[in-house]
Amino acid sequence: MSTVRARAPGRVNLIGDHTDYTGGLVLPMAIDLETVVVADRGGDRVVLASVEDDHPADVGLDVADPAAVEPAWARYVAGVVAVVQPSRGLRGHLSTTLPVGAGLSSSAALEVSVALALGFEGSPLALARACQRAEQLASGVPCGIMDQLASAAGVEGHALLIDCSTSTVEPVPLPEGLEVVVVHSGVARRLAGSAYADRRAECEAAEAEIGPLRSATAADVAGLADPVLRRRARHVISENERVRAFAAALAAGHLADLGPLLEASHASLREDFEVTTAELDALAGRLRATPGVLGARMTGAGFGGCVVALTGPGALHEGWQVRAAPGASVVTEG
Ligand code: GLA
Repeated sequence: MSTVRARAPGRVNLIGDHTDYTGGLVLPMAIDLETVVVADRGGDRVVLASVEDDHPADVGLDVADPAAVEPAWARYVAGVVAVVQPSRGLRGHLSTTLPVGAGLSSSAALEVSVALALGFEGSPLALARACQRAEQLASGVPCGIMDQLASAAGVEGHALLIDCSTSTVEPVPLPEGLEVVVVHSGVARRLAGSAYADRRAECEAAEAEIGPLRSATAADVAGLADPVLRRRARHVISENERVRAFAAALAAGHLADLGPLLEASHASLREDFEVTTAELDALAGRLRATPGVLGARMTGAGFGGCVVALTGPGALHEGWQVRAAPGASVVTEG
């Protein structure tokens, strides 16, 4: 019997939210908080104990409906089993340094680490696609590929400029002395699943009229009759431009340009995409006003969750200070 140890990081998105599922640009980084699975391969079930829950995940290799599995976190394990269709099971345990459900993609880290432990073989992109499908099966949320791809393809010391239309990943070095701090708004994500699906459907409705948002112009967007669709589309095309400008400013070391782009991203997610909350708005404003902070914005899906701040050394003493970490990896013995 072989023993396997697989690790997968969470992620924080620096800029580019609600763009991935329209083939847009995103700039996340894998972080130094991660989930680790240590298990023996064999048998016809995947049984994983977790220090977070008295109830283990216990999933048959023939699982038919991952969304019906209990406890709820085991649905992500079941989703991976359903997609990867391994010939052997696993028995072991998992542990995580990620805050669960805080918007740092603990579910993506769980999926990616379990897929590797099950023996998934393929490129980081193939791994991310399998785990994106697993997340959709487990949660019913039609998520994009950003979280799983950041976890699978992370590069130490770098953010990842991902073009979701071609699925290319370009590592962008993070300048020395730039700190990334993630602070929770104190509000768990509310109605995240249905509101997320609504936003995605609105983007698709806009695309049915004016074609892919990735190549749409401001003039195309102005031609949309429905004011809600117009605002949703305007967010997407302006956010893609901000991601491009942000990556260029990072690469050139123009740190003073980062703050205004973070602020504009947050404003667009608040006004045009309507996925922030009063708590996220207040927190981003407070952090932005703190000496040494270059800028702050909500990160991830919104509807609650976290704000990411970029700062000079030692400016913030709250939340999680995270570093850009390498992507997921696996070691097998015996
Ligand atoms: C969630 C999804 C991602 C992405 C973000 C918003 O994290 O899983 O695919 O759409 O929201 O940018």
